[in-house]
Amino acid sequence: MASAPGTSENPLRVAIIGSGPSGFYAAGHVLNHKAHPGLVAEVDMFDRLPTPWGLVRGGVAPDHPNIKAVSRVYEKTARHPGFRFFGNVEFGRDIFHEDLLARYHAVIYAVGAEADKRMGIPGEDLPGSAAATAFVAWYNGHPDHRHHQFDLSSRRAVVVGNGNVAMDVARMLALTPDELERTDVADHALDALRGSAVEEIVLLGRRGPAQAAFTNPELRELGEMVDADVVVDPRDVVLDEHSSASIEGEGDLTARRNVEILTRYSEARAAGMRRRIVLRFLVSPVSIVGEDRVEALEIVHNQLHPDQSGGLRARATDRRERIETGLVFRSIGYRGIALPGVPFDQQRATIPNREGRVLGPNGQPLRGEYTVGWIKRGPSGVIGTNKKDANETVDRLLEDVATGELLGPADPSPQSIEALLGERRPEHITYVGWAAIDATERSAGEPHGRPRVKLTSFEELLAAARERVPS
Ligand SMILES: Cc1cc2nc3c(=O)[nH]c(=O)nc-3n(C[C@H](O)[C@H](O)[C@H](O)COP(=O)(O)OP(=O)(O)OC[C@H]3O[C@@H](n4cnc5c(N)ncnc54)[C@H](O)[C@@H]3O)c2cc1C
Ligand SMILES: NC(=O)c1ccc[n+]([C@@H]2O[C@H](COP(=O)([O-])OP(=O)(O)OC[C@H]3O[C@@H](n4cnc5c(N)ncnc54)[C@H](OP(=O)(O)O)[C@@H]3O)[C@@H](O)[C@H]2O)c1
Repeated sequence: MASAPGTSENPLRVAIIGSGPSGFYAAGHVLNHKAHPGLVAEVDMFDRLPTPWGLVRGGVAPDHPNIKAVSRVYEKTARHPGFRFFGNVEFGRDIFHEDLLARYHAVIYAVGAEADKRMGIPGEDLPGSAAATAFVAWYNGHPDHRHHQFDLSSRRAVVVGNGNVAMDVARMLALTPDELERTDVADHALDALRGSAVEEIVLLGRRGPAQAAFTNPELRELGEMVDADVVVDPRDVVLDEHSSASIEGEGDLTARRNVEILTRYSEARAAGMRRRIVLRFLVSPVSIVGEDRVEALEIVHNQLHPDQSGGLRARATDRRERIETGLVFRSIGYRGIALPGVPFDQQRATIPNREGRVLGPNGQPLRGEYTVGWIKRGPSGVIGTNKKDANETVDRLLEDVATGELLGPADPSPQSIEALLGERRPEHITYVGWAAIDATERSAGEPHGRPRVKLTSFEELLAAARERVPS
């Protein structure tokens, strides 16, 4: 009989679905000898894309190369001899729940939250109205989103939402061609943004400045743009009594700093730059208006009211307003997608779990199934948040190793999944294939002083992976 998993004769075999930050932090912790000496573990990581890093490649804004550099940490994990990457392999299309249960002692779902939340207002689907998720993925060269055509001929763009993604979208619309040309923005987006007629970007927050979800450095960065003024109406930074109380004393420091920065913006005189970023508060869209495409946005002014949880909720007043615009981005959050055969909480759009152990329909943990990252806790938190979150999950997994409460795979050999993929998905790529893509993209960027020129179609990516792989 085989020994308990975790020995050199019978290594602990873990499948991780998704190669974003949460998947990589989970892999790093499973493979960390120092944290659990004596445990022999192997990780196979799968991603539907031929490229790893999740939103670090496909979400983080191109003008934030230092943040993208976190991938170096993941590269270190990928160099571990117990690690393998299988890209271009989709859970639910190429591999299924039962395939993994038959081959691994444990499975960790790390698929993030790829869909978007909707505003649920009339006109939301008119051409010219789009989700920030699509715009972000388009400018970052995600192969599913390269086909979008955003009409940048409108003088004014409106971004609904007050989070850091809304900040990214505003900045991307306001950067100069010179600034963009030094980044790894996808070429199709670079071409379109070069010809953009957008002069004013209006951000709409449904609550006040003290409730904005963006963080201080991102808000400060807006004020440092090369060719864009930031405009805040001084009346918008006058806080109601509840908001004032919430940021005083021991209150929310980020919110207090945000209000200070916004107050400074409201006092500054516009320098007459080519573009303006206008931050508005206490307004919500009620309908998007237009015959064949977006022509205007109707908004309602809100007031804040305390809710039962001790927070402040926006409530509409009778005051309405119309903003002329041809381009509306809703940036009101991402949303998780259910995986076939895996429990899913429709309301929260997450995998139900307790400290990362996936819960079955009876509310009890399912043996050997775990989750990390945005699909575990919902679409919030910065890259670093996923490390603590992944460690928590892996610690539970290791407790289950100790008590023997794992899956009992029929064939946990490393060859078994290779054989399956050979039949089901022969065009999958390995980490060597990704390294070839990486090298191709970097060398294409070098002559232009860019970090890389991204390949943005599955065909191009797979060709690059094949070309440089020694046969
Ligand atoms: C636009 C944007 C910008 C951001 N910028 C920053 C920033 O500047 N700094 C910061 O600290 N944080 C930033 N964040 C937050 C950060 O990106 C997230 O916290 C983090 O990426 C979440 O990690 P994750 O692994 O849960 O999900 P993801 O990063 O989304 O990774 C999920 C992975 O799963 C794969 N996948 C999905 N479905 C399947 C399937 N069925 N089969 C196989 N693979 C699948 C996806 O292809 C993807 O690679 C940003 C987020 C967004 C949306
Ligand atoms: N540079 C960075 O570090 C960076 C960059 C990008 C993203 N991220 C992180 O990634 C995560 C996701 O960011 P995000 O911006 O998508 O989400 P987010 O931080 O949750 O912000 C969502 C925003 O949308 C608003 N909203 C929600 N529903 C709305 C509706 N129906 N109508 C109008 N407004 C609505 C929210 O307002 P309410 O508060 O009123 O609900 C909030 O302002 C965050 O944790 C973020 O910090 C980090």
